[in-house]
Amino acid sequence: MAGTPWSDRMGLSVPIVNAPMGGVAGGRLAAAVSAAGGLGMIGMGSSGSVSALEHELTQLDPKPTMFGIGTVAWVVEREPALLDTALAARPALVSVGFTEDWSWVDRVHAAGVSAVTQVYDADHARRAAAAGVDVLVARGSEGGGHGDPRLGTLAVLDAVLEAVTVPVLAAGGIATARGLAAVLAAGASGAWLGTCLSVCPEALTPEPAREALLRARATDTVVTRVFDLGQRLPWPDRYPARVLSNETTLRWAGREEQLSRDDKARDEVAAAVATDDPRLAPVDAGAGVGALTRARPAGAVVAELFREAESLLRQRQPTGSDATRSSPSPGL
Ligand SMILES: Cc1cc2nc3c(=O)[nH]c(=O)nc-3n(C[C@H](O)[C@H](O)[C@H](O)COP(=O)(O)O)c2cc1C
Repeated sequence: MAGTPWSDRMGLSVPIVNAPMGGVAGGRLAAAVSAAGGLGMIGMGSSGSVSALEHELTQLDPKPTMFGIGTVAWVVEREPALLDTALAARPALVSVGFTEDWSWVDRVHAAGVSAVTQVYDADHARRAAAAGVDVLVARGSEGGGHGDPRLGTLAVLDAVLEAVTVPVLAAGGIATARGLAAVLAAGASGAWLGTCLSVCPEALTPEPAREALLRARATDTVVTRVFDLGQRLPWPDRYPARVLSNETTLRWAGREEQLSRDDKARDEVAAAVATDDPRLAPVDAGAGVGALTRARPAGAVVAELFREAESLLRQRQPTGSDATRSSPSPGL
């Protein structure tokens, strides 16, 4: 199997895009993913800024022929020049997420750049495609970081593929060759991978978070708004974050409304975040986190995932007597 029609058109040898993870996906990770034949993206999340982006652009080494930049609508509202800086860097893709104000799409197109956004159901996908977004990311609730948690990855991928004709990437909990093979077999144009690249040496992940990610089991994540409430970040309510479960998430589980009305408690959560200690502070992680057992270079992760996914997909292709056996039979 070569890539997908989309990845071939993009000139990628691997249909993998690294998710633009704020505080994790900087220039080094993006460069490594692009060097491995995928599409590397720099992420500007809650603490994104023009100066942070300018710094990460200097870390694109080796300078890829193609890379992307992803950010968050409310972060661009806070500093509108962020989008100008992103476009001036001449990326192949710009992703803006967590908004239904599509005015950014024309600005991105005017710079000759493709527009990408994450979508969470069929209607959302139709609205994004109608607004001119070129590539959609069908992101399921298994995903790490912020997102709408209502539908799982296969359910949202299926619904979005049915709803639109633009290329659709799959995201959420994909961390193994089996997961990658599954979404490619379902018709995804590629996979948008976050958590499984977050412990690579090229990622910006601080060491204590990296260790916590490597220790975590698949069942150790939780979807919460606790940290956003504590830090008073303007994340829309419908986009909570999947993070590693820890003392702070356990303490406030099921009591987020109460926390939102309690200023003192919010200050305490903000202080917990400021410790940067994964026992108290947030570590974004998807449900694929259990597959992370060691920190390997991004190029090795990307190459192995695709090689093994190809092998799995090849095994499923009927050959010889299997082909005869599995051909449609009028009696069945
Ligand atoms: C550490 C981390 C940070 C993230 N930051 C952002 C971000 O700044 N902007 C964004 O659009 N998505 C962000 N995401 C979500 C990803 O775009 C994507 O939906 C998710 O990583 C896919 O699921 P996975 O982590 O299970 O692969 C982040 C995810 C993680 C794990």
